[in-house]
Amino acid sequence: MFNKLKDYILLKLGITELRHNLATAEKNLNDRFDFLGAYMNLTQKEDIEIDPAIASKVATKLCAEYNIDTINMATHKNDVMFAIHVFGHRYNLENAVYTNFRIGAETALNLKRICEEYKIAPQKILDFGSGYGRVSRFLKQKFPESEIEISEVKSQALDFQKRHFGFKGIFHSQDAESLNCEKQDLILAVSVFSHLPKTTFAPWLNKLIQCLNSGGALVFTFNNSEDPKYFGVTKNQNFVYQQVSEDSKFAFLSDSIKDTNDYGHTFVTHQYLEDLLSENDVSYHFLGKSLVQSQESIIIIKN
Ligand SMILES: C[S@@+](CC[C@H](N)C(=O)[O-])C[C@H]1O[C@@H](n2cnc3c(N)ncnc32)[C@H](O)[C@@H]1O
Repeated sequence: MFNKLKDYILLKLGITELRHNLATAEKNLNDRFDFLGAYMNLTQKEDIEIDPAIASKVATKLCAEYNIDTINMATHKNDVMFAIHVFGHRYNLENAVYTNFRIGAETALNLKRICEEYKIAPQKILDFGSGYGRVSRFLKQKFPESEIEISEVKSQALDFQKRHFGFKGIFHSQDAESLNCEKQDLILAVSVFSHLPKTTFAPWLNKLIQCLNSGGALVFTFNNSEDPKYFGVTKNQNFVYQQVSEDSKFAFLSDSIKDTNDYGHTFVTHQYLEDLLSENDVSYHFLGKSLVQSQESIIIIKN
């Protein structure tokens, strides 16, 4: 099914001169193919236009659920996180849009709670590996006093977030040495360390700790290698790296990270993290699934 869809998208995108003819056929596609319809605009538009009726329904629901005033629903055509939900929800756009933004809103709210619990009142926040702003777009509302920056290895993601949310973006490569950032009070990394290979995992962890002010916190998510649901893959080993990722699956998106040596699927044990952290002057607490439901988290506070 997936390959068929992929071929379909590529075919449509490849034959731009047929787009007018295809537009008629497109009209006849049922709702489940709204996503493909949106993708057809790829050649001309960076942003996916979410059906206003769906956007309004989802926004009303989420604003009530997460106590926020408005939601900026700007969505980029290369947003892998969004694409995952669209495919996961079998092309039901309303469910996909809801899930995507619910996760962002929920993560921002949970982060706020965690900061309150650990008495972190950040003036400066960095959303590291922020992607297309699934979480960052909600940070402004939950941390209105804070200055928010984002970082990415994808320059289009930085441009998009600057354009839609006004965030200052920091571009860097996969190499931790390439990050040049001011000291932060809070660094968030959602679903980034769950993708890094061994060669860059520890360097990035050390680098982000270096970027913290004293008393500042790094909160990041990871896949726990000892989670029974991963046993078949990990056998509880300290560090497991699979050379596959959402980006490699959605390789047809123009800025997806295709090199699975750089970006894959990573599992670590608590012990592995503790051993790395023993080399730093920090205290830390494992947070279970209190930040996001799909991965575990840890808060690391710099002494
Ligand atoms: C799974 S996405 C998560 C995006 C965002 N944090 C969220 O939760 O929606 C991981 C992001 O990390 C970025 N990334 C990949 N390698 C990175 C690296 N070495 N350092 C920082 N970000 C990286 C990817 O470009 C991608 O946008």
